[in-house]
Amino acid sequence: MAFSKIFFFFPLLLSILFIISPVFCDNDEEDDLLKGINSYRASLNLTSLTTNENAECLADELAEEFKNQPCTNSTGANTVPGTEPQFANYPNILAKCHLNVSVTRDGAVMPACVPNLAPSLVLTNFTQSQYSENLNETKYTGIGIGSEGDWIVVVLTTNTAEGNYATATTTATTSAANSVSEIIIIYHLLLLLMAAFYML
Ligand SMILES: *[C@@H]1O[C@H](CO)[C@@H](O)[C@H](O)[C@H]1NC(C)=O
Ligand SMILES: *[C@@H]1O[C@H](CO)[C@@H](O)[C@H](O)[C@H]1NC(C)=O
Ligand SMILES: *[C@@H]1O[C@H](CO)[C@@H](O)[C@H](O)[C@H]1NC(C)=O
Ligand SMILES: *[C@@H]1O[C@H](CO)[C@@H](O)[C@H](O)[C@H]1NC(C)=O
Ligand SMILES: *[C@@H]1O[C@H](CO)[C@@H](O)[C@H](O)[C@H]1NC(C)=O
Repeated sequence: MAFSKIFFFFPLLLSILFIISPVFCDNDEEDDLLKGINSYRASLNLTSLTTNENAECLADELAEEFKNQPCTNSTGANTVPGTEPQFANYPNILAKCHLNVSVTRDGAVMPACVPNLAPSLVLTNFTQSQYSENLNETKYTGIGIGSEGDWIVVVLTTNTAEGNYATATTTATTSAANSVSEIIIIYHLLLLLMAAFYML
């Protein structure tokens, strides 16, 4: 009957919204920066960078680590290459993102701190700083962007085995948070399936 159809249709709608929501909830600053970087590359006749999920994960996790550090002249885009703050838990962060050092070696990690992530400053912090050296490179093909607070982190990947950020098969630890969200997604898929059967 009509009422019981609504009873199933509503959770179905919620499930659809839930599954597609990450697509729409993507951060504006990150989207803007990705577009800006790809326009910059297009202006240099370089290929545009495509999103790499594991690099995106790493960028998010690193932004989380940087979040509580203040913007100073010694951090972010003003950092001398190779002297970026190192995190003791870096191996754990890599593992959480299904990565290991052998697939990230040729990538580039570029943190920047910009108060309120003002879009024009964020883009120039990458295109008009030492980081432009990386953005000018033909070898980079993939990108991941993460932001937290005033921090935005860009991770560049290559299409070689040493820098493609491919999911590592030998990582021992998987993130509990990831398994939880996987379970939630499976639950919603099951709901969808049930609803689909009911409506047949
Ligand atoms: C990009 O390619 C166009 C057409 O081939 C050329 O006119 C332009 O000078 C190139 N720009 C750069 C920065 O190489
Ligand atoms: C950073 O700030 C300190 C103190 O304000 C100053 O002495 C130093 O020269 C600055 N470094 C750069 C690279 O601007
Ligand atoms: C980078 O951002 C800082 C603010 O954190 C700003 O003062 C600086 O001018 C920016 N640098 C570039 C090259 O855009
Ligand atoms: C990257 O390319 C741009 C445009 O050709 C140039 O202005 C900039 O200096 C280059 N960056 C580096 C670090 O060489
Ligand atoms: C890293 O992951 C790759 C791909 O799964 C694997 O071939 C390699 O042995 C791993 N290296 C280390 C040091 O765990």
